[in-house]
Parts: sequence; C-alpha cells; structure tokens
Amino acid sequence: MRIPEATVDQIRQAADIIEVVNDFVSLKKRGSNYIACCPFHNEKTPSFSVNPARQIYKCFGCGKAGDSVRFVMDVENIGYGEALRYLAKKYGIEIEEQEQTPEELLRQNERESLLIALNFAKTFFQEALLTSDEGKSVGLSYFRERGFTNPTLEAFDLGYSYDQWDALLQAGLQRGYKREILEKAGLILAKENNKVFDRFRGRVMFPIHNVSGRVIAFGARILKTDKSQAGGASPKYLNSPETEVYHKSQVLYGIFQAKQAIRQEDVCYLTEGYTDVISLHQAGIKNVVASSGTSLTTEQIRLIGRFTPNVTILYDGDAAGIKAALRGLDMVLEEGLNLKLLLLPDGEDPDSYVHKVGADAFKTYIKEHSQDFIDFKASRWLAEAGDDPLKRAEGISDVCSSITKIPDLLKRQTLSQRVAQVFHVSEQSVISEINRLLRLQQEQVRKTSDRQKRAPGQEPRQTASSSALAAESVDDINALLNELEIDTAPAFDESAFGGASALEVPQERATATRTPISYQEEECVRLLINYGSQELEPGITLCQYILSELHEINFQTQPFDHILTHYREAYAQGVILTAADFISQRISSDRHVQQQVITLTTPRYEISEGWLRHEIFVPSEEEISILADAAYRNILRIKKMLAEQRMAVLQQQLREVNKEFTEEVDRILMEFMQYKRIDMEISRLLGTVISG
Ligand code: CTP
Ligand code: MN
Repeated sequence: MRIPEATVDQIRQAADIIEVVNDFVSLKKRGSNYIACCPFHNEKTPSFSVNPARQIYKCFGCGKAGDSVRFVMDVENIGYGEALRYLAKKYGIEIEEQEQTPEELLRQNERESLLIALNFAKTFFQEALLTSDEGKSVGLSYFRERGFTNPTLEAFDLGYSYDQWDALLQAGLQRGYKREILEKAGLILAKENNKVFDRFRGRVMFPIHNVSGRVIAFGARILKTDKSQAGGASPKYLNSPETEVYHKSQVLYGIFQAKQAIRQEDVCYLTEGYTDVISLHQAGIKNVVASSGTSLTTEQIRLIGRFTPNVTILYDGDAAGIKAALRGLDMVLEEGLNLKLLLLPDGEDPDSYVHKVGADAFKTYIKEHSQDFIDFKASRWLAEAGDDPLKRAEGISDVCSSITKIPDLLKRQTLSQRVAQVFHVSEQSVISEINRLLRLQQEQVRKTSDRQKRAPGQEPRQTASSSALAAESVDDINALLNELEIDTAPAFDESAFGGASALEVPQERATATRTPISYQEEECVRLLINYGSQELEPGITLCQYILSELHEINFQTQPFDHILTHYREAYAQGVILTAADFISQRISSDRHVQQQVITLTTPRYEISEGWLRHEIFVPSEEEISILADAAYRNILRIKKMLAEQRMAVLQQQLREVNKEFTEEVDRILMEFMQYKRIDMEISRLLGTVISG
C-alpha cells in the first residue's frame, strides 16, 4: 500500500537524524557533528558520524551511509515503507490507509506479516488480561500478587492467554490471519494428526520487544507457583521458538524499555529474568535488561554496547548465578566493555530483593557491593587458597587470563598493577604471566589456521594460482607493448587534484579490487553532483561540459553508471540533480547510490573540522579555474583510459589472429595506432594542464 507523497515529505521533514539515530545508539557531540560506535559493524572506537546540518550519517569504518529513513531500514532490517511507518509513529504523523484486507496482508513480505500477527497476539493477550473474567481473576490477580502496578503492566504490554485449546487461533483466523503465518510466528502448534492449537495456554504473557519496540516473541509463565508444578510436565516459562523475526541470541529482554535510561545512566544492569527487569523498572531502576533464559551471547553484549560501555551483571548469589556470571565475564571484556559484577544475597534475585528492601536500599546495595572483575575473581580465589601458594598462582593466572581478553592495551597495563596489589605479588610477575598467556593464545590461533591451510581443496591455493595467472598476462601485455615501442602509462596521480577520491576512506577501497577507470568515474560523478550547475565559463555549466564531452559514453562501474544515467535523464528534462536528490532516495532507492553520493559529498578529512555546512558551493574565480581544470582533466583521463582499454583489446586480437591474414593484421594495427595517437595527445594535454 502506498503512502501518499505528501505524507512521505511530512515524515521526512519531521524525522530529525539526531533524534532518530539516538534511539539506537548513544551519540556524543563532537564539533558540529555527533559520533558513536557504529551500529552496523563491530568497533571499539567511534567512526560513525552524524551530521545534523545535512541530516545524514556516515560510518568511516564500514562505509554505511544514509539519511533517517535509510538508518531505520538498516538498523531494523526493514523495508522503505515500514521505515516510513516507524517514523510516522515516532512523530505522530497519521498515514491515511484503508483497513488492510487479508489479501493485502499476504502480499506484504513475510517478516512484516509475522510482526503484524505478533502484534495482534499481544493485543489479544492484553485484552484477555484486562477485560475478560478469566484474565482478571487468574492473570491479573497473579500480577497483583507480584506487586505489579497498572503502569508497569502497560509499559511491558503484559497479558494473559486463555486456558483453552485454540482461543488465539480462532480469533486470529476470524481477523483474517492465515494459519500458516500464525504458525510461523510461533503462536500456534500443529500436531501430526493436523490438529492445531495455541502454543500458550493459561499463562501470563511477557511480550519480548525488539529495540524499536515491536513485539517479536513471547515468554509465558505458568501460574502455579509451587515447585512440584514447576518441575513437572510443564516448564515454569515457555518461550517462543526461533522464528524469522526472533533470534533469541540477539535479543535482550527489556531493551526497548531500558535504552533511554541506559544512555542516561551510562550503565546497563544485566539480569537473568523477566521479572527482574520488570520489578527493577517499577522501582525506578530502568536501565536493566535480561538475557532471559539463554546464557549471555556476544551479540547481546554488542547490543548493550550500542548504548553504553558499562555493564553490571546482577545475578543470584547461588552457585548457578556465580557460574553464569563467570561465563559472561570474559565475553564482556572481550567486547571491550567495562564490567562490574554484583551477587545478591543467597536465595535472592533482583526481583525478590528489590521487593524486600525497596528501591533506595537496592541502589545502595549496588553501589556498595559491585566489584570489578579482578576483585570478583580474586576474592573467590583468595578465600579458597588461604596459604596455599599453588592455589594463589592458579588464581593469578585465572585473573590474568581474563585480562588478556581486553582489547585495549592501555587498560591491560593499568589492570596488571591492580592484580599485583590484590594478590601481593610484583607487577612484573603479573605482566610476564599475561604475556605468557598471550603467547599461548597466539600459538593456538596459528595452529588452527595451519590446520585449515593443510586441509585439501582449500581456497588459498586457488587464489594463489589465479593471481599468478593474472600477473603473467600483465607481463605478456607489457612485453608486447615493448615490442611495439609503446611506453606503459604510469599510474595516475590521483592526488594531483584535491578531489575526494584521493582522500577517501581506504577501508572501503580495500574490500574489492577496483579498476583504475572506476576512480575516474567516481571523480566525474563527484564533480557532477557537487558542482553540476556551476558555470565554468559564461554560459557553460560544468554538467553541460561533462555531459557533452561524455556524449554517449556509459560508465563501467556501479553505482557510478547508475548515477550518471539518472543525471543524464534529468538533465534532458532540464533538471540538474544534486546530492540531496540522491540522498533522499527520490531518484533511486538503490542503497549503493545513496551511500556513494554521501561518500562523494563528505570527504574524510572533514570529519575533524566539521562537515561542509553549505550544500551550495560558491567558489571564487580562482576556485572556478581549479574546478574547470579538474573537470577537464577528469574527462581527459576517462578518454585516455578508454583508449587504453581499446588498445588492450586490439593487442589481444593481434595475438590471436592468424598472422597469414595480413589484411586483418593491418586493420588491427591501424586502429591500434589511431588510439595510440589519441592516447599520446591526451598525455600531452594532461602534461600541460598540470600546474606547477
Ligand atoms: N527461564 C526460561 N525457562 C524456564 C525457566 C526460566 O526461559 N523454564 C528464563 C526466564 O526468562 C526467567 C529466567 O530464565 O525469567 C530466570 O529464571 P528464574 O530465575 O527461574 O525465573 P524468575 O525470573 O525468577 O521468575 P519468577 O520470579 O517468576 O519465578
Ligand atoms: Mn524470581
């Protein structure tokens, strides 16, 4: 279903890039920009930059770039329409759409259908809890017993599933939801005999939200609290299975409700259970999430890292809690986050403890009892070791092994001092232990990679042979060129003209080998979208000059050809496109186009000085001559490269042609010489325009 054009504009106007991005990552102001660790790739130092003046973001590490809409699409992994709807909701903009029929629902992609079905289920469970007799007497009274207030029920969308075989299924079918979708969403189960029934029955429901607040799964708790029931046939908690939209290793329960507070408090409390999150939230401690039944994963830690570098693990003080905390410890360190640990008194979990002592005492307890990982581990070892020097050595080694996980060298250094103090040994002995462990780890890595190399039919061999081949053919061509007395052109001096191409991010380049001509095509596009309407001399705009010189030449590289084609088409209609036209996706929804355009209008060196504030370039006369020069040379270089490409083709033909067909050989040589002349002429021109 299409969103009216006017509404799209309204949404785009409203969606401020800083506000939108800030819902997902924690932005810090740096000059006129904002920076953060990139949500799209894993990094420890921020290279993700948001420019409020231009309303765009760009990561100088992974190259992702775009505007508010693109950001939502990428971070949520959703389509254009859905991203607009998300933003419309955020900014309270109404989208006039008709009630969707089941057929229309079907046409939407499956992911979206599942989310819609899950949202329906959430509402169904909520209504059951709050309005039905059964829900009120069973579910609601259970939540009341646990002390949950109405705002809490609402904040977490808590609900109740009827104690019937197919209440949700029937309601869903009636509303036009296909059985298949309900099944794929994990809401219903099909038995072999084709009997279908609700997965969740007679339980209180805990919807699990993704970062942006959409329901992606459910946790469902049995109502009977006595142990015999919990250990019996049905488990205490029943959770949604993995689905298209729910990958439990990537999800943290409560992250949607907690993210704002995590940013503000600059620390995230990590607990184990649904009720821990909810009770702490109700007590005013809102920066809390739970790994909910799974042991902590790296993805979950990274999710926290998007909002704060500080994590405090709040686990039960029992043996299982300690074990879980120790398991999570190294993983958190490995992700470069700062870690504290807090064990609650034995037999208590955060939920029970906050109810017992109240919010203030709980906060004080956190303050007084959280330990960093060194103290946490050391106190356990020292208690056990007593006077046993062997046990102490083992303890030191254990703590050091955690330190080796920390990526930051400086941090490792400071921590070794702490270890020395805690265990009463010299710092030097701690450092050598750390180094010993690091060497061991490197050894391990080397062994594994050796083993992989030795495996038969592996890739490295193939790449080696293919690159050797490539080198051979280049040598061939050079030999031939020598025979023909043709000098091989030196590599182009990219830095000769201060274009973005010379200063752009090397990482992006390194990922794929690029043809030399692609750099010139990039430069050409850069000039067009930045300075297209600029007059180089009276009556001749830059785009007029370039487009007429290129005539019907198409580019060989994407997305440059794509951009050129759009540019050309618009120009034929009398419109000179600018970067903004591409960035807003009005021209093309190709994400590579959008990213490329942002890259071309955002030279890397500007990140330190603040990005160009002016969209419109108002050059001085001297700058115009530099611009004209850049355009002129760019065109010459493109033509020169095309000539060279053609010559290479001709050389190949010369090699393959039967030398007895002298006419054919002559034709090839004639054409070759013609291009050679063009090539030399351009070299001469390029030589003359390069100013001292
Ligand atoms: N859990 C689960 N399946 C189970 C038991 C537990 O998925 N059979 C998960 C739930 O996310 C639960 C968490 O592990 O919240 C911690 O379990 P537990 O401490 O037993 O539950 P509590 O959160 O304390 O729940 P309650 O207070 O309601 O007993
Ligand atoms: Mn509990």
